[in-house]
Amino acid sequence: MSTAEATTRVPLILSDRINAMQESQTIAMAKKARAMAAEGVDVISLSFGEPDFQTPQYIKDAAKQALDEGYTFYTPVPGYLELRQAICDKFRRDNQLDYQPANIVVSTGAKQALANVVLSLVNPGDEVVVFSPYWVSYEEMVRLAEGVAVPLVGTLENEFKVTAAQLEAAITPRTRLIMYSSPCNPTGAVFSRQELAAIAEVVGRHPHVHVLADEIYEYINFVGEHVSLAQFEEVKERVITVNGFSKGYAMTGWRVGYLAARPEIAAACEKIQSQITSGTCSIAQRAALAALQGGRGSADEMVAAYRRRRDMVLDLVQDIPGFRTNVPSGAFYIFPDVSGYFGRATPAGPVIQTAADLALYLLHDAHVAAVDGSAFGAPNCIRFSTAAADEKLREAFIRIKDSLAKLG
Ligand SMILES: Cc1ncc(COP(=O)(O)O)c(C=O)c1O
Repeated sequence: MSTAEATTRVPLILSDRINAMQESQTIAMAKKARAMAAEGVDVISLSFGEPDFQTPQYIKDAAKQALDEGYTFYTPVPGYLELRQAICDKFRRDNQLDYQPANIVVSTGAKQALANVVLSLVNPGDEVVVFSPYWVSYEEMVRLAEGVAVPLVGTLENEFKVTAAQLEAAITPRTRLIMYSSPCNPTGAVFSRQELAAIAEVVGRHPHVHVLADEIYEYINFVGEHVSLAQFEEVKERVITVNGFSKGYAMTGWRVGYLAARPEIAAACEKIQSQITSGTCSIAQRAALAALQGGRGSADEMVAAYRRRRDMVLDLVQDIPGFRTNVPSGAFYIFPDVSGYFGRATPAGPVIQTAADLALYLLHDAHVAAVDGSAFGAPNCIRFSTAAADEKLREAFIRIKDSLAKLG
């Protein structure tokens, strides 16, 4: 008997933990689009949250230099001291926040930083208030920690932003953590200073609650001011700020992110990381250091392009009846409410019942890949990434309009 045959006869029992976990919908849709493209279909993929820019040359050069200089050994678990120092300088320069290296943990992407925090703070049964629409992985991270995700839904009329009053009503004695991103993936909403001040006031009244502020899109901001919740003195100790290099420096594949937290929380995250992955890649850390030393100039150039594309896409979307959207203030997505199409029949017969049906219809009819909003806690919406070339975006929304016009 061959090994392959033997393997298929052994009953496989996966853990309850993994059976309960959903595959990332953004990655699932990207896979479908790739499979269609491999069959020769001209698919325009707007499903992935990835800058279409190359990493700036000076950062690539630093990586090459790191190899030549022999940065090939295990790294300290929380990251090279020099990089953590540069991250502290960045917090001081951009966010007026005073941290020391003991507050900082560098991780394999912001994703690992977020997971480290959730696993460090959440006990089974603890409630985690997740501002909704939310980034796909938040809910699964909470589930992995056996916590209970409590989505708190912002309305389209308020740019999908959760208000301080909503938050006050949602906090219970079991609430352990609050999670949100600003600028937000998927809505592009950016909390103002006033809104965060009101949220800080609520959190200040509940000393058992911590907040995980995901600021990975900090630099991709079209309104100007980025405010960190940790800037509010009354809550600073209980705010964990996560950021990284993937979006602002177009470094998705390098996998470097970081967090800033009080030293006990940073030490807890370091402990988890020491048992699961160790310190992140030596070469990528040296590249990240060069990125920070270069300031944010390259990010500003990319932001100008993202802004132009946002405006272009909003113009195109205005021409599509039944797409209701906010004006994103940051990040690179648009997130229209498409519920106006529910109940309409496709040319082949089946009726569109959900945003998932509509996303699949657009994939097969318009050959445009987007992600169903239910993955983000918003089942009436679809997320389109605007991180694609101008002509691709224009073509995609023309095709979408034509396909939607065929619905009965
Ligand atoms: C809101 C948000 N947080 C975190 C991440 C993860 O970033 P990284 O690539 O650094 O792991 C993403 C990536 O899409 C994101 O959109």
